[in-house]
Amino acid sequence: EKGNHRHFMAKEIHEQPEVVGRTLAHYVDLANGRVALPETLPFDFRTLSRLSITACGTAYYAGLVAKYWFETLARLPVEIDVASEARYREPPLDRDGLTLVISQSGETADTLASLRYAKSQGQHTLAVVNVPTSTIAREASAVVPTLAGPEIGVASTKAFSCQLTVLLCLAIAAGRARGALSAERERALVDALITVPGLMAEATKREGEIEGLAREVSKARDVLYLGRGTSYPMALEGALKLKEISYIHAEGYAAGELKHGPIALIDESVPVIVIAPHDAIFEKTVSNMQEVAARGGRIILIGDAKGAAAAGLDTLATVTMPDLDPVVAPIVYAVPIQLIAYHTAVFMGKDVDQPRNLAKSVTVE
Ligand code: F6R
Repeated sequence: EKGNHRHFMAKEIHEQPEVVGRTLAHYVDLANGRVALPETLPFDFRTLSRLSITACGTAYYAGLVAKYWFETLARLPVEIDVASEARYREPPLDRDGLTLVISQSGETADTLASLRYAKSQGQHTLAVVNVPTSTIAREASAVVPTLAGPEIGVASTKAFSCQLTVLLCLAIAAGRARGALSAERERALVDALITVPGLMAEATKREGEIEGLAREVSKARDVLYLGRGTSYPMALEGALKLKEISYIHAEGYAAGELKHGPIALIDESVPVIVIAPHDAIFEKTVSNMQEVAARGGRIILIGDAKGAAAAGLDTLATVTMPDLDPVVAPIVYAVPIQLIAYHTAVFMGKDVDQPRNLAKSVTVE
């Protein structure tokens, strides 16, 4: 069932243009250039004073990206925590407020417990899940499915990009409901969303270069990932993906945090993977890259041609991504991030589909 691919993970990475396209078709009214949620939701985005998100691992990072989207596009305050913390912290939650849980399997014990806690507080619960028959899908008051299809590789790839796709559609719908988005802006966002599957396919064409780069990464003992804005959670996701399948120690940081500690780690032996589309805060990330370069750090830039030219830095490599609306960048940039982890692990001879100590579905806490 792996088709022409060596591993399920490779197959699932390459399936993304198709499954993201399928997910989009479910949430976007293409003829009218509008997001159209097929499910009627049992709450009103207009009256929410806050959105609480809980999830684990990669799904949590999808939630962190969504926090930026809900806050900027819908002006909706978001509180987010990993489910294992949220469930025991027992945060005060408004009756009739909204908790959003995100889970590929729909069976993650901590995520399920935080969903049950939210319900016990009288919250509406909305689940972004990939397995429609799962416990979380059954227990949530509403479900917005990701249409990624079965994900076999232990490291989440296509479920993640589909989660991002659904979450961006939700944020746009919330923005419209709350009067935070003009019709014009919504149309521009939908236009950008529609281009995403094609942009992801374009991103997979960087695979040859990334394979070469992976040989460099495989020699490292530690790898740093940096990003700002939505690229910050992408840095966290990049580091998680690399550590879980290659067993190389990796850390993701908000680029602005560099000088508050992690800069002490920088030398020629530490590759620094910078995720930086040419967005409004790109210049800020460039200053961080200069700080890294000044200390002999070897930068791998995942960015676009415009950004690479503007940065004018001597990088070890630049993985050139297509031009895009920065709002949709996380969905497209997921591809090179996954490919770096995948090829590094394959080059090192690791079992990428079944990494040690990990289970696909974490049904015990
Ligand atoms: C990372 C990974 C895990 C899961 C986490 C949550 O690649 O797969 O971090 O994302 O265990 O799982 P779900 O989404 O099934 O709740």
